[in-house]
Amino acid sequence: MRVLLGVTGGVAAYKAAIVLRRLKEDGHTVRVVPTAASLQFVGRATWEALSGLPATTDTFDNVPAVEHVRLGQQADLVLVAPATADFLAQLAHGEARDLLGNALLATRAPVVVAPAMHTEMWEQASTQANVATLRSRGITVIEPAVGRLTGPDSGPGRLPEPEDIVAAAYAVVGGGPVPAGSSSAPWGDLAGVRVIISAGGTREPIDAVRYLGNRSSGHQGFALAEAARERGADVTVVAANVTLPLSEGVARIDVETSVELADAVREAAAEADVVIMAAAVADFRPREASTTKIKKDGSGTLSLELVETEDILRSLVLAQVPGRTVVGFAAETGDDAASALEHARAKARRKGADLLVFNPVGGGRGFGDVPNELTMLDASGEELARAAGSKLAVAHAVLDAVARLRG
Ligand code: CTP
Repeated sequence: MRVLLGVTGGVAAYKAAIVLRRLKEDGHTVRVVPTAASLQFVGRATWEALSGLPATTDTFDNVPAVEHVRLGQQADLVLVAPATADFLAQLAHGEARDLLGNALLATRAPVVVAPAMHTEMWEQASTQANVATLRSRGITVIEPAVGRLTGPDSGPGRLPEPEDIVAAAYAVVGGGPVPAGSSSAPWGDLAGVRVIISAGGTREPIDAVRYLGNRSSGHQGFALAEAARERGADVTVVAANVTLPLSEGVARIDVETSVELADAVREAAAEADVVIMAAAVADFRPREASTTKIKKDGSGTLSLELVETEDILRSLVLAQVPGRTVVGFAAETGDDAASALEHARAKARRKGADLLVFNPVGGGRGFGDVPNELTMLDASGEELARAAGSKLAVAHAVLDAVARLRG
């Protein structure tokens, strides 16, 4: 899950470093958005080193990535710890004075805040009114702990222990540690990149009711789409006969035949930075499809004349559009002539795509919602990377390779 961790200005800000650590250890991606005042307590370098991501404060940092909107939109959870009385007041009034305020306005994710302040400030009627407002809007305000405060005083207002904050956040999102192999991809590393993904399998009509098809389910292509969207890309999926749903925010063009797929990909690819051909495209189609149902004629055989379809991947490669990264897939089985990997290497050289993703199929491997194992090859057939795991995990590995290729 992607957690946006807001840190506001209080002595307890150091405890947010432990919250961040715990979330990272559990496999989540954490982007810290500190307020300017909080940097008086814990410096930006600490947040960047611990999270491995930029820790921007100002709305006008990194404007091309439109971060003030994207950060909030892409978060699965916004957690603010510690939250000062001033911050609670701003949040209650929908103010967007800095990056954190903007992100909170732009998010639909659950919001959890952990206040920390002196007892007088916490018990102040204005603070209590703000807390009531926030709770009435569905924001989770964790009750502060009672104990020693910054000065000699003690009472309610102490930041709860990091473990308790993390537990409270998990309770809200129903989360917990991420299973091994899930994404640890940098948040937003594909922000603004236009990605076209073909997915599923084409159907080539034989007659009014029959077609030539294949077993591709579209799971891998759709996982690529979800992974690319998580990383900030503008994603369009050209879906050939896929019944699976896609997240909001991913554009979808449904097609049936290889000709429709070729047309849709060609048109979408004109504006794309990355084209991923994950669809299983028929190599041949009946020269003519009967408009009526073909009847048995008693001869005991039926001949269909098949013609080769356009090799869409090859056309994309030959077009040599500068700056466009083209990715192909190769589902292969081994045979007497060569192993599956050797067939894939030969295909990588023949197709000339920037990246060819090979996955062995047959014997229950490859099709449907099952774990996948992939080897990524460059245009000369050299191995660039390997990945295994759920289709979402390997999708991220493919996008890691794409991101590396694009520099
Ligand atoms: N592909 C394509 N157009 C086609 C056939 C395949 O764009 N008409 C793409 C697939 O989307 C995939 C890659 O090419 O990314 C490899 O597909 P595959 O069917 O394995 O390749 P073929 O060209 O059919 O190679 P072969 O018949 O030699 O196995």
